[in-house]
Amino acid sequence: MDFNLSEEHQAVQAAARDFAQTELLPGVIERDTAQHFDPVLLRKMSELGFLGMMVAPEYGGGGMDTLAYVLALEEISKVDASAGVIMSVNNSLVCWGLEKYGTEAQKQQYLTRLASGEIIGAFCLSEPEAGSDATSQHTTAFLNADHYLLNGTKNWITSGNTSSVCLVIAQTHPEAKHKGINTFIVEKGWKGFSVGRKEDKMGIRASDTHTLMFSDVKVPAANRIGEDGFGFKFAMNVLNGGRIGIAAQALGIAAGAFELSLKYSKERKTFGKPIAEHQAIQFKLSEMATKIEAARLLVYKAARLKDEGKDYIQAAAMAKLYASEVAMWVTTEAVQVHGGYGYVKEYHVERLMRDAKITQIYEGTSEIQKLVIARELLK
Ligand code: CAA
Repeated sequence: MDFNLSEEHQAVQAAARDFAQTELLPGVIERDTAQHFDPVLLRKMSELGFLGMMVAPEYGGGGMDTLAYVLALEEISKVDASAGVIMSVNNSLVCWGLEKYGTEAQKQQYLTRLASGEIIGAFCLSEPEAGSDATSQHTTAFLNADHYLLNGTKNWITSGNTSSVCLVIAQTHPEAKHKGINTFIVEKGWKGFSVGRKEDKMGIRASDTHTLMFSDVKVPAANRIGEDGFGFKFAMNVLNGGRIGIAAQALGIAAGAFELSLKYSKERKTFGKPIAEHQAIQFKLSEMATKIEAARLLVYKAARLKDEGKDYIQAAAMAKLYASEVAMWVTTEAVQVHGGYGYVKEYHVERLMRDAKITQIYEGTSEIQKLVIARELLK
């Protein structure tokens, strides 16, 4: 598999790095503390095309491949993992799902605005009693003439408040279990749709995560995605690609913490020399770099398989499993390399360590990734 980056790939990577360093870095600590993502930055991300990278230009996207997308996501997450998750959900779960499975009318009405970043989307699968056990949907949507009546609660929804359009997974035919589930495009502002409490999170604090409530929301039948009963398959297919995005986010978090550690270890002196000259630190740096490189190869491989139209379910799960474990390990070591400075906000690594944890949880926990990998191996 060829991982030599084309000129276009390198240009996307450089543009994302430049944006991250000049625009995202300056206020990243303040945004984490305030739990607020600056809308001006979101606007800049959309202007630079980071919110609909893989969508065809005819629908307002960048027409790029998955590799270009993960390269950008990695650079952005090195600095601001909150920006990373906003970008990942909009690109991989919302835009990709709509472009792949939406009708032409749905694409014209929603995808064009989502891909250009004019509006942001959310993906609503998790519920108070349906996290890993995603088939156990309690949100219902029953057909009533030309519309569905949507009722239920969704939890931990990324961009829950910022988003204008939500892809909501709901049970339509309970007797058919997961084969009776549908996914609907639901607009904010529709009667009965309310935004609930904002979660006070450990990490990715600048991204908003909310509970969403639906009480007799009338959803036009035309807003169902795919055939009746396709909704769970839709969610699974979309999450396969989403996991590549979260793997890239995790890779970025790890690489960002490593770059800071490398720099710091050359500057900080103990016992009369830079700590980089102590073998204890060298061993840490070597192991960090090796694990990050291995994670990078898994992430790029999954992206390449997807771009080549090959099966990428296992590769995506492996990339997400490994990159998220590496992110947690590397960021913990990065705090250790920084010592007391690592424990305070100013040096960034404590935030990256907090940000890393979620990559082992959302879009399928590490345990779910192992389940997915095992099922693919045993097929
Ligand atoms: N790709 C495609 N299809 C898949 C799939 C995959 N990775 N995994 C399961 N399926 C299909 C199965 O083939 C099956 O379809 P058929 O009945 O047609 O054969 C169907 O889904 C049900 O699968 P199972 O019988 O295996 O169901 P299960 O209950 O035993 O396991 C699960 C399902 C794999 C555990 C699934 O529930 C799962 O992936 N859970 C994790 C959910 C998740 O990732 N949530 C993330 C929330 S979204 C989020 O975090 C976004 C954000 O804001 C950042």
